[in-house]
Amino acid sequence: MNRLKDKVAIITGGSSGIGLAAANKFIAEGASVISADIAAPENKNIDFVKTDVTNPQSLQDMVNTVVDQYGKIDILVANAGVAEKKSAVADLDLDNWNKVIAIDLTGVVLTNKYVVSQMVKQKSGSVINMSSILGVVGGVKSQAYSAAKAGVANYTRSQAITYAAQGIRFNSVAPGYVNTPLLKTLPQKVRASMIEKMPIGRLAEPEEIANVIAFVASDEASFVTGALINADGGYTAQ
Ligand SMILES: NC(=O)c1ccc[n+]([C@@H]2O[C@H](COP(=O)([O-])OP(=O)(O)OC[C@H]3O[C@@H](n4cnc5c(N)ncnc54)[C@H](O)[C@@H]3O)[C@@H](O)[C@H]2O)c1
Repeated sequence: MNRLKDKVAIITGGSSGIGLAAANKFIAEGASVISADIAAPENKNIDFVKTDVTNPQSLQDMVNTVVDQYGKIDILVANAGVAEKKSAVADLDLDNWNKVIAIDLTGVVLTNKYVVSQMVKQKSGSVINMSSILGVVGGVKSQAYSAAKAGVANYTRSQAITYAAQGIRFNSVAPGYVNTPLLKTLPQKVRASMIEKMPIGRLAEPEEIANVIAFVASDEASFVTGALINADGGYTAQ
């Protein structure tokens, strides 16, 4: 299929796991893909602009580079993220909290800020922000990660209704547990409990999440937004 023909897509964290699977899928669907990541992808068909999503200057430079080279940005997948050090809040490691919030929540918002400024000029764009099942239901001994991911989901609803009339769509995706390098950073006991929680009896594969992201990014899904515009001109956030 060619659902993303001639689209220019930035994927933060596009060099590994779900972001890499999305990059490969987007290319297969006809898009040009830029991985904005601290690490380079192995696939040389994916363009790479070294970017740290916690650093505003790095993000602004990345957007400038992409616009200079491609002339536009059609799609942003704000996907870069890290796992947390799990603990009950009484044992909270504040440095770890600050790091996870900086990358998983503030990093998404900052990436949106610089990319959406360009999309406003174009009067079009599709933004997909990465949430998680832990942002929907919470998890034992999760603190920064579940807070960040819930924050991403609700922040995204607010942007959807803010930008709907300007032709920019915002959605977030909230995968269950996915077989990526991020999970390998967690203790084996935690990984085993994740598989037990998956109704399908296994971890999801990154390609399965990438298929959803590609659909939501495409014009086929142009009706999908975090906001429902009501007939009376008001709106309902979804
Ligand atoms: N794996 C899962 O089970 C799962 C489930 C739900 C949501 N998610 C979310 O999906 C996203 C991708 O996770 P993954 O499992 O593919 O992980 P991953 O570790 O395979 O990939 C994460 C990528 O983000 C990059 N990254 C980290 N910090 C960065 C920074 N400061 N600036 C730019 N890039 C940075 C890494 O270099 C890496 O390439 C994350 O937001 C994660 O929270 C993962």
